[in-house]
Amino acid sequence: MARLVVVSNRVGIPDGSARAGGLEVAIRPALKRRGGVWFGWSGRVSDDAPEPARTLDKDNVSYVTVDLQKDDYEEFYNGFANRVLWPILHYRLDLAEFTRRDLGGYFRVNGFFAKNLERILRPDDVIWVHDYHLMPLAKALRERGHKNKIGFFIHVPFPPEEIITALPNHEQLIPALGYYNLVGFQTETDAANFARYLANERGLRRLDANSFAFDEGDVRIGVFPVGVETDTLQRLARRAVDSTFVREVMGSLSGRAMIIGVDRLDYSKGIPERMDAFERLLTNFPRWRGQVTYLQITPRSRTDIEEYANLGRQVGEKVGRINGAYGEASWTPVRYINKAHSRTALAGLYRAARAGLVTPLRDGMNLVAKEYVAAQNPDDPGVLILSRFAGAARECSAALLVNPYDSEGVAIAIDRALAMPLDERVQRHAANYRVLKQNDLSQWAERFLGVLERPRGAASGALPEGL
Ligand code: UDP
Ligand code: G6P
Repeated sequence: MARLVVVSNRVGIPDGSARAGGLEVAIRPALKRRGGVWFGWSGRVSDDAPEPARTLDKDNVSYVTVDLQKDDYEEFYNGFANRVLWPILHYRLDLAEFTRRDLGGYFRVNGFFAKNLERILRPDDVIWVHDYHLMPLAKALRERGHKNKIGFFIHVPFPPEEIITALPNHEQLIPALGYYNLVGFQTETDAANFARYLANERGLRRLDANSFAFDEGDVRIGVFPVGVETDTLQRLARRAVDSTFVREVMGSLSGRAMIIGVDRLDYSKGIPERMDAFERLLTNFPRWRGQVTYLQITPRSRTDIEEYANLGRQVGEKVGRINGAYGEASWTPVRYINKAHSRTALAGLYRAARAGLVTPLRDGMNLVAKEYVAAQNPDDPGVLILSRFAGAARECSAALLVNPYDSEGVAIAIDRALAMPLDERVQRHAANYRVLKQNDLSQWAERFLGVLERPRGAASGALPEGL
């Protein structure tokens, strides 16, 4: 079997820290299973001349990381990747702040990654590139003469052409995906949006249900929804719910029901809207006052970007207002925490919570939703309340699906979840769990790499016909 080289901006270096982010969570077990190399950013920003890449070998994975220079961090990471691509790919044209300087930095860092990768690449390596930070990486590698199989998977949504064409220089950026052999998406909608862009904007010829003829070669498109480690999480949660930590948390609630939300502090997650919905619950359904506590775990993210700092203030104010207006000396309605928690701690908390509130305004997948389902006690499960705009809604269709912009509607769903009879909870959970188990994370990498390594025409994970 060929050696696997995974490339992503964020690398899950095994340093024992609890970090939040679905990409890292998805790649780590998939790569561990097959072994290989994980190349990307070290997470460090340096003022000095670039140092050579550092390597850490653990189990059967080599973690190879490079530092970013200050300008790179500003223009590539904070700039084009997170102030332009992230908002646009999440349908937020209003938040995109484009500059040509940042675009230049984006291409420069992709070139820097290619140059550093070159030092470790072997001709028969299979390269799997992840996410929006690295769209032009295959082009940069091809220009250096690399002929390896290269696949790309985008963890975030791919919006319709009406939105993506508002991205300045999309004509330069999106066609760079034509240098990959396979481009994978979370949902059929994302893949169909991409296909529509290729056909209508670029006038590219469709070869079959899931391939397009680019000038650089044929590119396959596939749908590979990221899953979770269903049974592992179930086992972990079963133990973790009895841990001292979870017992202490539950003990401190004095028998009240708990609702849980877990998200990076990101505007795509709909946290202020969710706070409004919880406030609505307390206003419109007063029977829950003093009866339920909403625990929101929200590690800070991308803190050097103003929009993220503003969001932090906005959420803090809303939490303060709700607790001030409805709280009692003996009851705090919302517990809002910025500290990141370990996977084990989260698994235990998910299992202990009567409802999981996952209401992003837009999300590629949302692994928290799936983790919540996987962690439940099947005989007495909690209820998942899930935004219809999360990729996970496709698979978790037995959740209470909500429109996160409709705070009254979400409040009604919370009321329904808290009051839901056992048999309905069991049925909904079993249906969701069944689907998640069929698409376990253990098969995700195999499915993607299977298609990447197979000749065209034999693809699974295909686009549906007639898009
Ligand atoms: N996560 C974590 N600790 C935290 C908060 C989140 O380990 O304190 C994990 C969470 O369990 C999930 C991931 O971070 O696996 C977040 O992935 P998701 O797809 O929900 O959202 P993203 O952050 O990738 O947008
Ligand atoms: C999302 C993105 C990932 C990113 C993660 C955390 O999951 O799809 O690419 O790694 O958020 O964000 P950060 O900016 O800290 O890497």
